[in-house]
Amino acid sequence: MVDGPRPPRASRDPAKPLAGARIVVGVCGGIAAYKAAELVRLLDKAGAHVDVAMTERAQRFIGPMTFQALTRRPVFTDLFNLTEEATIGHIQLADAADLVVIAPATANGLARLAAGEAGDAVSALVLATRAPVLLAPSMNVNMWNHPLTQANVRRLVDVAGYHVVGPGEGFLACRWTGPGRLAEPADIVEAAALLLSPQDLAGVRVVVTAGPTYEAIDPARFIGNRSSGKMGVAIAAAARRRGASVRLLLGPSALPPPVGVTTTSVENAVQLGWALADATKDADVVVMTAAVADYRPANVAKEKLKRSELGGRMELELVANPDLLAELGARRGRGRRPVLVGFAAETGDVIENARKKLETKRCDLVVANDVAEPGAGFAVDTNHVTLVDREQAIEVPAGPKSEVAHRILDRAAALLAATAGVAPPAAAGAKAAAGAKAAVAGAKAAVAPKAALAPKAAVKGDERAREKGRGAPGKRAGRA
Ligand code: CTP
Repeated sequence: MVDGPRPPRASRDPAKPLAGARIVVGVCGGIAAYKAAELVRLLDKAGAHVDVAMTERAQRFIGPMTFQALTRRPVFTDLFNLTEEATIGHIQLADAADLVVIAPATANGLARLAAGEAGDAVSALVLATRAPVLLAPSMNVNMWNHPLTQANVRRLVDVAGYHVVGPGEGFLACRWTGPGRLAEPADIVEAAALLLSPQDLAGVRVVVTAGPTYEAIDPARFIGNRSSGKMGVAIAAAARRRGASVRLLLGPSALPPPVGVTTTSVENAVQLGWALADATKDADVVVMTAAVADYRPANVAKEKLKRSELGGRMELELVANPDLLAELGARRGRGRRPVLVGFAAETGDVIENARKKLETKRCDLVVANDVAEPGAGFAVDTNHVTLVDREQAIEVPAGPKSEVAHRILDRAAALLAATAGVAPPAAAGAKAAAGAKAAVAGAKAAVAPKAALAPKAAVKGDERAREKGRGAPGKRAGRA
């Protein structure tokens, strides 16, 4: 294939894959067209350069002025307008784009794209681009379920290699309930981020534990801790974005599991140990963010304990839980897979204590944080950590857990690359090519075409994972 004028995509920081990306949002004429404004706002906020193309029908639902105000750029509405074509030019837009997102992709819009038409601003641009195309369908439930629409989507996915996010299920503007609702703008942004993220962890199997454990005292009471699970969930989501296949073992937490991650819910340390033994059999990296209770009640009362029977004083006998990380470290030996990453929540001598943990738990990396510091540790959205391994201690600038997660993964990936006789996931030429392929597969999985075509499907690959998860008690997979 002849290489076109589109410049090679710059390598992106996986923590901010949309920053600096050129994204064209194509808006078709459907009632959800107004939601494209929120999508454009979110993409702009994430640092993308957004251009908007609209069909004539889309302009009956929302004016180009809205998008022009949001993007601070002219909007492409008319293929045959000499001024527009001279100032914007659909071929230039198509060539420069890193990603084209069609939202809403109406039944009519999908049909035109599937037929390879190029008679309006949106379809001409889509046909001309070599960038990945992400479709966010939105229409009446019966239009979505119609075999012709399903065949069009299948064709767009199978023949053109386009990606699909949504539609979601719900009460539709047409007063029907079912699939047809435009995916939430935030979910479309996440699908876009996935498509633009470097896939340097493609083919890497990552296991993450997260959240607290609850150790039962009786059917109503437990011993727990303040862990929210946010750091671990952020790491699982970040690894998934970079192409890893991720299993998240999540203690009791209010957080929705991240998209595309196979999540197993556990309650206590013993259950976490069982889940971990299974999940780590073939893992490349294990990240232990879970705040595992060190002790559990020696006996769990079958009936709820009554204060009237206990009197003024109650003694609770505790027994030690297994140290899951130390057990993994002992089983694995040093320098072999999986790379083990532990966390150390300290309130003093942070680095020294982290170094001790590195030895006692025989892990490769300890993520140390001072939980006494404001804006670090439990239940907040930010963290300030130091990555301590046998060679160095790297302080990661304080920031959102979603960004800190990528810095932890950067170091874990480097340690994985250093394990005996193993090439870095995307370093060697052949492996890089395999990585690139898996990247596409990974992106598709997140917006899995098959699931999208299932009559009751909501959003993509997570659905597939959810289906899988149904078989096993306690297993659940990514939120749509
Ligand atoms: N951990 C574990 N199993 C346990 C306790 C902790 O796998 N029973 C893991 C945690 O997931 C974390 C790391 O060990 O990655 C550090 O946990 P922490 O509670 O800070 O360490 P402790 O060994 O309990 O040390 P301390 O006495 O400082 O609490």
